[in-house]
Amino acid sequence: MVVLDSRVPFPEIPGETPPESSAVASCQRAHLHCHRNHQRHRPPNRSLAKAGAHVVMAVRRPNVAQDLIKQWQSEGSGMHLPLKIDGSVMELDLLSLDSVARFAEAWNARMRPLHVLINNAGMFSFGGPQKFSKDGYEEHMQVNHLAPALLSVLLLPSLIGGSPSRIVNVNSVMHHLGFVDEEDMNVVSGRRKFSSLVGYAGSKLAQVMFSNILHKRLPAEAGISVLCVSPGAVYTNVARHLPRILHTAYRLIIPYFSPEEGCRSTLFAATDPQVPEYCKLLKSNDCPVCVFISPDCRPGNPSEAAHDLEKANKIWEKTLAMVGLPSDCVDKLVGGYEVRVRYGAH
Ligand SMILES: NC(=O)c1ccc[n+]([C@@H]2O[C@H](COP(=O)([O-])OP(=O)(O)OC[C@H]3O[C@@H](n4cnc5c(N)ncnc54)[C@H](OP(=O)(O)O)[C@@H]3O)[C@@H](O)[C@H]2O)c1
Repeated sequence: MVVLDSRVPFPEIPGETPPESSAVASCQRAHLHCHRNHQRHRPPNRSLAKAGAHVVMAVRRPNVAQDLIKQWQSEGSGMHLPLKIDGSVMELDLLSLDSVARFAEAWNARMRPLHVLINNAGMFSFGGPQKFSKDGYEEHMQVNHLAPALLSVLLLPSLIGGSPSRIVNVNSVMHHLGFVDEEDMNVVSGRRKFSSLVGYAGSKLAQVMFSNILHKRLPAEAGISVLCVSPGAVYTNVARHLPRILHTAYRLIIPYFSPEEGCRSTLFAATDPQVPEYCKLLKSNDCPVCVFISPDCRPGNPSEAAHDLEKANKIWEKTLAMVGLPSDCVDKLVGGYEVRVRYGAH
């Protein structure tokens, strides 16, 4: 349970962010059926844009994101958000690895440096049945781990171009409950009974393990910090599948962060100047895990399971195979070579 500490300051977003700073955030938080939230939303992309960064929203429903930008612009008269209706929204459906590869191709073709990639989009189909993407993967695993992993690797050339840069994975404290089996990423073997909680927590643990290895594989000279973030319990649309009465009950029991409070740790991870130093420190100390930022914007500790380096390496290898990347993809991309990926146009 997360208790809001009102003394935790909202991280300062440097007002001096150069206009050419670009951030890709895989989220829009524009749910037509969640108007109450809408009014209060200050998601990471809006806050980053307010600070002067050029933010690209990577979303599966571009028209909804464009309507949201219009709404922000009309709400924020005088704020001059550098978000344009055209150019600030790109299509990305994490349930399709083809869509991920095409997004990365389109981004890399722009030859624009990328400074921050925020893998925020996620799903928790609370109480829902086990479902599989058209790529054949369990949906939580695909949306929360496999697709962001593919995106992160394919965007390495642009992140190197924007170095020092960051990959921020919006993870969850629920990864502590996770179990992930590299031989059964879809949870179909019967060794474990599937539930939405098993799917969600396992996907979040897989993301931490993959991030740990990516953090290790990237040479310091690449200048890319890889980190995971726990936003805390945030009153968003993530539990949209719950009946309204349960929503109300949960709100009474759990001291939720508002969406504005809930994006603090993500913004902190994306902008705080000490974060890259801390990443470097963990790397030089050969720490088995990458930086994990807690909801109060402090260094946190991922679960014991996440510290299992041998297992993390297996998850890394399995993930690359599942998303159609060669096992030497990071070395190749860092070396300036192209890699062949199973998905996308090439
Ligand atoms: N809320 C919490 O208490 C909490 C706690 C811990 C961690 N988190 C993590 O925080 C992150 C953000 O979640 P949230 O709470 O803001 O939930 P949310 O309100 O449900 O937002 C999730 C976002 O992900 C997008 N998304 C879902 N499936 C997608 C797909 N296939 N392709 C592209 N985008 C997709 C959604 O887009 P649409 O608008 O198109 O649906 C939405 O913008 C997630 O990674 C979640 O696991 C949340």
